[in-house]
Amino acid sequence: MGRVIAIANQKGGVGKTTTAINLAACLAVAGSQVLLIDADPQANTTSGLGLRGQHQRTLYHALAMSESLDRVEIASGLDGLSLIPSERNLAGAEIELVDIERREYRLREILENHRDRFDFVLIDCPPSLGLLTLNALTAADSVLVPIQCEYFALEGVSELWDTLIRIRRSLNPTLAVEGFLLTMFDERTNLSNQVIGRLARFSRIASLRNFHTPQRSPRRGSEPWTADNPLRSEVPWIGKLRESRQGGTRQ
Ligand SMILES: Nc1ncnc2c1ncn2[C@@H]1O[C@H](COP(=O)(O)OP(=O)(O)O)[C@@H](O)[C@H]1O
Ligand SMILES: [Mg+2]
Repeated sequence: MGRVIAIANQKGGVGKTTTAINLAACLAVAGSQVLLIDADPQANTTSGLGLRGQHQRTLYHALAMSESLDRVEIASGLDGLSLIPSERNLAGAEIELVDIERREYRLREILENHRDRFDFVLIDCPPSLGLLTLNALTAADSVLVPIQCEYFALEGVSELWDTLIRIRRSLNPTLAVEGFLLTMFDERTNLSNQVIGRLARFSRIASLRNFHTPQRSPRRGSEPWTADNPLRSEVPWIGKLRESRQGGTRQ
């Protein structure tokens, strides 16, 4: 049964989508069967794979209209990698699901049979702690938290942490934490090193592991990936994730 990993942080611009695309693509190239779910109404994962407008149905249809995932899933063009695309309407699902019983379990339930075909299911979450993110965290076996090495990096971490604890108490008691993934790290700045220091203290308290990405902040004109070539950047910690496939860090 596929391992479901949510990539979540309620802050925008921290590298969730970039991580989701690169990790999914690298796992597929390494021979895994991977399903990437775009759970953000901004649909950056969908457009990042060059698939905006290439679909008739999206995650919205599966969540709000009970469409089977088989009918929503599309091929990415890369062997082993499939996508559940997103669209702006997905924002409406947060409102439409409000009155539905077990609304936080929708994604978990529709993935139940579908995940068997995959080694990994990665969910790119929106930049909020709303119902879509709750659905992702309830469906997931584990969560990977990208954190940008910048001044306010840790401001949202305790809020996210409280949410994870609440989810484990109620919706998903076995949710594990893969770790924090430091993005846009630049060893030339004190700031990046300060963020690492503060996060290391937090992680020791929470007994978490930190993945460290040596990717530097992009210089002008050197984005870490481009829409037509999501494989351009490396994800060097992929080996660690594969090792952790049998179980993430659990407290
Ligand atoms: N590891 C990284 N190294 C350098 N730049 C990155 C990295 N991850 C993301 N970026 C850049 O940061 C910006 C925001 O990334 P994105 O993945 O869209 O964040 P989010 O999905 O959290 O909103 C993009 O311009 C992206 O190219
Ligand atoms: Mg995003």
